[in-house]
Amino acid sequence: MTARVDFLLTGAGQLVTADPGLGEGPLGLVEGGAVAAAKGTVVFAGPQAALPELPLAPGCTRVDAGGRAVVPGFVDAHTHLVFAGYRADEFAARLRGVGYEQALAAGGGIHRTVRATRSATSAALEGATAGRLLRAGLHGTTTIEVKSGYGLTVDDERRSLEVLAALRQRTPIEIVPTFLGAHLVPAEYAGDRAGYLDLLEYEMLPACAPLAEFVDAFCDRGALTVAESRRVLVAGRRHGLRAKLHANELGLTGGAWLAAEQGCVSADHLLFLDLPEAAALTSAGTVAVLLPGTSFLLRTGQVAPVHVLREARATLALGTDCNPGTCYCESMQLVIALACVHGGLTPEEALLAATDGGARAVGRGGRAGRLAPGSACDLVVLSGRSYLDLAYHLGVNLAQLVVKAGQVVARDGVPLGLLREPAGEQGA
Ligand code: NIG
Ligand code: FE
Repeated sequence: MTARVDFLLTGAGQLVTADPGLGEGPLGLVEGGAVAAAKGTVVFAGPQAALPELPLAPGCTRVDAGGRAVVPGFVDAHTHLVFAGYRADEFAARLRGVGYEQALAAGGGIHRTVRATRSATSAALEGATAGRLLRAGLHGTTTIEVKSGYGLTVDDERRSLEVLAALRQRTPIEIVPTFLGAHLVPAEYAGDRAGYLDLLEYEMLPACAPLAEFVDAFCDRGALTVAESRRVLVAGRRHGLRAKLHANELGLTGGAWLAAEQGCVSADHLLFLDLPEAAALTSAGTVAVLLPGTSFLLRTGQVAPVHVLREARATLALGTDCNPGTCYCESMQLVIALACVHGGLTPEEALLAATDGGARAVGRGGRAGRLAPGSACDLVVLSGRSYLDLAYHLGVNLAQLVVKAGQVVARDGVPLGLLREPAGEQGA
């Protein structure tokens, strides 16, 4: 028997299903759309005129989109939300021309955030991360990948992932945890890089893998080499984690080749990329995660080569990369706009990458990032009539209503159960 419908949205001027089988073009666009869901899963998405008679559950949530555009909830495929500290001064220095790699080499950059994160209490770390999650949700993100990587000791990496486990109990936003103990070799191991990799493989991974889904490494100039990164990905897979890789952000360093060789689920950044590498990613089924907020704020002028990615028929995803160094931003809406005006994507490519592509990059293809029967009923009612507003109407929050698993979790910028109090503080 079909479950009774407990969420029904009608009156979508434009409904983006992100399923080409359901509507026009790559976005699966439907004019005059409706969405029905039962127990958090879509049972109908398509033209309202074709909406069948469905049994409604008592207390069914009904939404009239009033002719506005409706899009799938955004999937942020790459973030570093778990950190303490603040690097606005480094950002200001970058505006004056001091390069990102200069700050890193001088012991600032990631090293500085590692120091701040290690000295923060768990409650402070959870509180800071919760605030970032809340802002992401208010801007329409309903699934988010989050990396550790600012602890770089066994205890601090595990603690970062424990913060995420605690937050999973407090928010309906789906959190996809990634272990990034290979963000950098920490300062205290500068003279013994192999010693740090031993620690990562034999102590950190056993402690952290049960709390993570993915393993990642920052394979780049000034971070980990290709050989070091390979070791981390292979060890991570032995612990049951799927692989991702920070590749080719700062140079043509061989990271994309490694991601393809290791069958990574995604290769992220890719500011430097040639056609053979892009083709290798496509053949390996590796999703190309672009982070246009980062390339914008690095201020090197380098953007991911869209023509190369198109020619290789790469599957694209987008992420905020939210982190204290290269891009402090929780808004996928701004990232979509930057992907278009700075990164050269079409609005359709950018929106597909922010939804269906993102879901593929975090191992949730078909389940998240789409509005089709069987997918999660995660959606955003925009304040405008067209999805084009996401690229066009810049710098304001266009998410009028955010729905996660068939529940309204934000309305007009006000959270509704988007973040609950920490355990032990309920009703306090
Ligand atoms: O994705 N590339 C590595 N990690 C981040 C930057 C982290 C930081 O500067 O704190 C990134 O850009
Ligand atoms: Fe990153």
